[in-house]
Amino acid sequence: MKPPSEEAAAPAPASAALTPPASVPRHVAIIMDGNGRWARGRGQERLFGHEHGASSVRACIEGCAEAGVEFLTLYAFSQENWSRPKLEVAGLMVLLEKFLRDNTPELKEKNVRLQAIGRLTDLPASCQRELNHSIEATAGCTGLTLILALSYSGRTEVIDGIKSLLREIEQGHIDKAMINPEMFSKHLYTRYYPDPDLLIRTSGEFRLSNFLLWQVSYAEFYVTKKLWPDFGKADLVEALHEYAQRQRRYGGVGE
Ligand code: FPP
Repeated sequence: MKPPSEEAAAPAPASAALTPPASVPRHVAIIMDGNGRWARGRGQERLFGHEHGASSVRACIEGCAEAGVEFLTLYAFSQENWSRPKLEVAGLMVLLEKFLRDNTPELKEKNVRLQAIGRLTDLPASCQRELNHSIEATAGCTGLTLILALSYSGRTEVIDGIKSLLREIEQGHIDKAMINPEMFSKHLYTRYYPDPDLLIRTSGEFRLSNFLLWQVSYAEFYVTKKLWPDFGKADLVEALHEYAQRQRRYGGVGE
């Protein structure tokens, strides 16, 4: 695979005229990576990077809302992240709570609806309260839907989906012969949202890290070397521009 800078600079293929550019993605998903390295590079604790990462979150919400993106999913805390040092985990939970408390009025004002996916009952009670409050407060908003992935694991989501399907079969609501990809999607945490069109990852790593494993089957990937706290609105716009040049073929030939 080419490094991100080369990919961004690559000219559109000769077949570009055959299919119109995908223009604005309906759903953008972001793996926000590099907070720790950003902080360490400044001789600071990792939490310092997470705190600055919150500014990039705000910038991306604003950028997506302005661009007309309908759904933005942010990988804010994975199930695997619970294994980090206790102080970092506690700091991240406090940061999440503070982010929700401080930003909910503005989300509402900007017509942004907040949602969350993941094993939300794993979160500290105070965090769950703040999250539920923000979800309820923004429930009537009709602009961008912001989805926070919290205590999220793609594999756990798939297993939970299988269990949910099995329950439906046991209760006689469906027959196993009826199972297909569309039906399975309806048993995932993301059942209310379309699949991501664009997946952005910061800090230059080419991996999925257990994020939306089922849903990104046909997402366009955009990897930037920028660390998350340095990723601003202009970087988001650059990613959206590159997405607009991509030819999506979904396994076909694009004609
Ligand atoms: C990955 O960077 C980032 C996280 C595990 C946490 C993401 C959290 C934020 C951006 C804080 C604000 C978010 C909200 C929703 C308020 P890393 O720590 O793995 O970085 P590294 O790879 O450089 O160590």
